[in-house]
Amino acid sequence: MCGIIGYTGQREAAPILLDGLARLAYRGYDSAGIAVSDAGGHLLYCRAAGKLEKLIEKYQSGAAFHGSAGIGHTRWATHGAPCEHNAHPHFSYDGRVALVHNGIIENHRQLREELTRDGYVFRSETDTEVVVHLLHRCLAESGSEAEVLRMTLKRLSGSYALAILFASRPGEVWAVRRESPLIVGAGYGETFLASDVPALLPHTREVYEPAPDEIVRLAPDGIEILGEHGSAAPPRLTHIAWDADAAEKNGYGSFMEKEIHEIPGVLRRLLAVREPILPPSIAESLTGLVFIGCGSAYHVGLSAASFGETLTGLPVRVVIASEFRYHPVPLSARELVVAVSQSGETADTLAALREAKRRGAYVLAIVNVVGSSIAREADAVFYIQAGPEIAVATTKAYCAQVAAVYRLFLAIAAARTGSGYAAEISAALDSVPDAVETLLGERDTIRSLAAPLKEKNDVFFIGRGADYPACLEGSLKLKEISYIHAEAYPAGELKHGTISLISRGVPVIALVTQPPLAEKTLSGVEEVRARGAEALVFHDGEVPIPPGISAFPLPHVHPSLAPLISAVALELIALETAELRGLDPDMPRNLAKSVTVE
Ligand code: AGP
Repeated sequence: MCGIIGYTGQREAAPILLDGLARLAYRGYDSAGIAVSDAGGHLLYCRAAGKLEKLIEKYQSGAAFHGSAGIGHTRWATHGAPCEHNAHPHFSYDGRVALVHNGIIENHRQLREELTRDGYVFRSETDTEVVVHLLHRCLAESGSEAEVLRMTLKRLSGSYALAILFASRPGEVWAVRRESPLIVGAGYGETFLASDVPALLPHTREVYEPAPDEIVRLAPDGIEILGEHGSAAPPRLTHIAWDADAAEKNGYGSFMEKEIHEIPGVLRRLLAVREPILPPSIAESLTGLVFIGCGSAYHVGLSAASFGETLTGLPVRVVIASEFRYHPVPLSARELVVAVSQSGETADTLAALREAKRRGAYVLAIVNVVGSSIAREADAVFYIQAGPEIAVATTKAYCAQVAAVYRLFLAIAAARTGSGYAAEISAALDSVPDAVETLLGERDTIRSLAAPLKEKNDVFFIGRGADYPACLEGSLKLKEISYIHAEAYPAGELKHGTISLISRGVPVIALVTQPPLAEKTLSGVEEVRARGAEALVFHDGEVPIPPGISAFPLPHVHPSLAPLISAVALELIALETAELRGLDPDMPRNLAKSVTVE
């Protein structure tokens, strides 16, 4: 979703803003813009539709301007087409206020009508533009920018992170957030703001996340929080421990490739964490678990659900967060709700979490981004500590979240009864990082297996038991970055309709990692081969595959843990296919890393 950057200090603002926008590009965008306040207090801007290169080209070929304070934005269109006049920054008609926004102003129609009646002329179709005109109107009533902001916020419903330049306050950037992510960072003689940590890493690791509706003024000499009665206590900064090059490609062709190669290290770190994932008192009294999440985060719950039910004897439900928020799934007070989210900012998951809490549930969040909204609002949080994940397609965070859920079930089993099976899985988990490393050594073979896919229009995935959720995740990865239509089915389900789509040359990828179900899935493979499908089987190295079937043996792990290995194999298949099709795997079209709107 949209990315915001801001700077004030002694240096030229524009190059810093453009570099920051490039670091936020992974969030997904379709137009971009910057505005700078110059020494004379004039607000100057440059905007362009399309990729950032277009903006940079436009800025360098004529629009270049100078000034040491500014704001920038990458826009992921929600209201109005992705064109230049809808790109941010938006301006008041007299050019005295400039603003960028991430989020959605839900009452924008009503405000637009009101402002139009007052004579304001709109130059875009965005929901955002109402905010800049409201600010302008309030400026006529109050001379204090803080008061103007407070008056404006009272009129807004929805979500926002706003960064604002006032011509009356050269050298300053103003900011405020509600529901949408925004952090401010302190450097020496300069201050910054951004939607996310990676944009700030080259400049500072001392950051502060403003509370909802807290008004923040950035100046070269520091960050000021403005309360109702003037300046409040200085913000307490948090040190971000991430390595500066955690957000660089470090020689890999893409962030996705780099992040897949980080999986063994991420898993080792996660398995070494000794703090309890859930307070034992909660674990002891549980009557069931409900997982909520979107996209891959939903698949995390599905991947571990049947394992968790077998291990703990508790019923496990997995619900898509955007459905949960409106569908009154029965919840009892002793059911644990687990909100899974890499970004910790997914609007639907956050809303579902709030709904669960409103209904009295205890919510555990499994999150990557420290301090994110979901992490803050949950009753307890387990951080997977996967480091920044830049590629839109989640890989290392997905695997870390699945491993964290295994650990959660092991902790619940330990607090309740303990079991031999739990001890067996606990020991087996330690071998998973090495198995992933072995698999990563097979890149060339996997690339050759992906080669035929690059020309295809449809790919089907089949699997049974724990292999089915892994198929769902593999098919999501493939369609997300290679734009090939892909669908996943329980292997026994194809013949109830979908097999009519199988014809000569259609690829069917089967996962066969569960020994008791292997024969059954392989029968499904024979059924599609008989109809001309090009079958490719990923199987546990210890499960025999009949001759004549194209097969890739995965490194052996305990069958209950196989979803962790097959996930990596299918991530690699998706990556290789996207690359073979000449696509950038990091920034798939229309997608955003962090989906902060409903
Ligand atoms: C996965 O590759 C996707 N980019 C997407 O499905 C993602 O998992 C989903 O949007 C949820 O994001 P979250 O984990 O940040 O909540």
